[in-house]
Amino acid sequence: MDFSIQSGTPEKQKGDCIAIGINESHKLGGTAAQLDEACGGKIASILKRGDFEAKVGQTLFLHDLSNIAAKRLLLVGCGKERKFNEDKYDQAVRASIKAISTTGARDLVCYLPEIHVKGRDTTWKVYKAAELAEDAQYRFDELKTKSREKKHRLHNLTLAHLDENELSAGKQAVAIGRAIAQGMALAKDLGNLPGNICTPTYLADQANKLADKYGLTTTILDEKEMEQLGMGALLSVSRGSRQPAKLITIEYQGDKKSEAPIALVGKGLTFDAGGISLKPAAAMDEMKYDMCGAASVLGTLKVVAELKLPINIVGIIPSSENLPDGEANKPGDIVTSMSGQTIEILNTDAEGRLILCDALTYSEKFKPAAVIDIATLTGACVVALGEHASGMLCNTDSLGKELLQAGEYSHDRAWQLPLWDSYQKKLDSNFADIANIGNRGGGTITAACFLSRFTKDFKWAHLDIAGTAWLTGKQKGATGRPVPLLSHFLLSRCGLSPIAS
Ligand code: BES
Ligand code: MN
Ligand code: ZN
Repeated sequence: MDFSIQSGTPEKQKGDCIAIGINESHKLGGTAAQLDEACGGKIASILKRGDFEAKVGQTLFLHDLSNIAAKRLLLVGCGKERKFNEDKYDQAVRASIKAISTTGARDLVCYLPEIHVKGRDTTWKVYKAAELAEDAQYRFDELKTKSREKKHRLHNLTLAHLDENELSAGKQAVAIGRAIAQGMALAKDLGNLPGNICTPTYLADQANKLADKYGLTTTILDEKEMEQLGMGALLSVSRGSRQPAKLITIEYQGDKKSEAPIALVGKGLTFDAGGISLKPAAAMDEMKYDMCGAASVLGTLKVVAELKLPINIVGIIPSSENLPDGEANKPGDIVTSMSGQTIEILNTDAEGRLILCDALTYSEKFKPAAVIDIATLTGACVVALGEHASGMLCNTDSLGKELLQAGEYSHDRAWQLPLWDSYQKKLDSNFADIANIGNRGGGTITAACFLSRFTKDFKWAHLDIAGTAWLTGKQKGATGRPVPLLSHFLLSRCGLSPIAS
């Protein structure tokens, strides 16, 4: 889809369709009033009939209005004016894209950024509209033999109505929104692919593909090379699988070589059956999503490369399957991590931290300015925060704060949980330096405590995306989160995102 932005007179906009927001009071302001006047009060009279309540996300097409150049006018419900927030803006933009897809319209001039969203400026509304509109067109049907026809897809979206002095910020906002949606689409595609296609080797191939397209550098370590580095924790998980593990490194250099990179470490468990501590059968298919941390790293690198951000980034993806097998980890097994610390594996289903700990130790070699790991790490995080917020824990509060603010700005939010020392003793082991699980309480925190034992020498934050990376039930599918959060974190590090400091 192509994007543009515009100031200009709404009734003179030619083309297939223009969309305007209407709230429940039916009071017409701004563009709506201007259009209504142009067509002789037709909009007001239709609203008066009571055919359009203007509930959030409700839509109504009006055709061939006199003195309005566009073929269609789409009324988009915005509900109660004072309750119109980020979530409702999301619903309204998606609803207009969905309504358009049922018609033959190919282009849309969208005036929704004109509607007041509490606490958000025009730049944000334009950024978000671009991201939402592109994301609303996402489909994953490549594995259906009859894939849906593409004919009803929108080709051009113009975001209006901006003041002259908002145009250049608007242009940049559109570029950011579009790039983020494209990064999300990559993350969603990888997440939605089943475990028999998206294996560690497949992920490595995709990293290479991304690198070829944007001129990035990859290094893929195989099991032998990991063995030489002493990655006993990571390899112990992979031993129970016939698919060889990979440690994928992908580097983006947008700044001077001497500048320390940000390391993004993503859990790439391409299928998590739990191992010998086998998971129950119900919804086990969803454990194909256990590589969404890895997918978000690749998606974010795509955003960064697309926008050519002046920053250095290293993506590190430990990738493996976790299956039961004669060679698999057994409860009670003790392995030695790359850091030298020994780990007693009390539950083989707590495998994410085993592959991540070696990847975190490995990340030190890049002398990173900060390390952020992203992982579908604990079911406990789903219980605590549901699908609305990712869990965030960190050893450096200033870094954590930057991530929380990036989440607020992008509305891809995270919520901090404590990483207090008092939780650490839950990981005491009678036989090794550390156990891989705690007791029942605070599972997200003990998982982060485990990782913290491997991140003492650098600034580190952990995002538990178990609840946010995919949706279950009827809308089952990857969400592309937290690509928006990570992208805005990096944009703000480049001085390109207006996050309050
Ligand atoms: N990949 C899972 C975490 C998960 C569970 C994500 C459910 C999304 C939904 C992880 O590897 C895991 O199995 N964690 C265990 C840890 C436990 C054994 C301490 C969990 O959360 O049950
Ligand atoms: Mn597991
Ligand atoms: Zn897992």
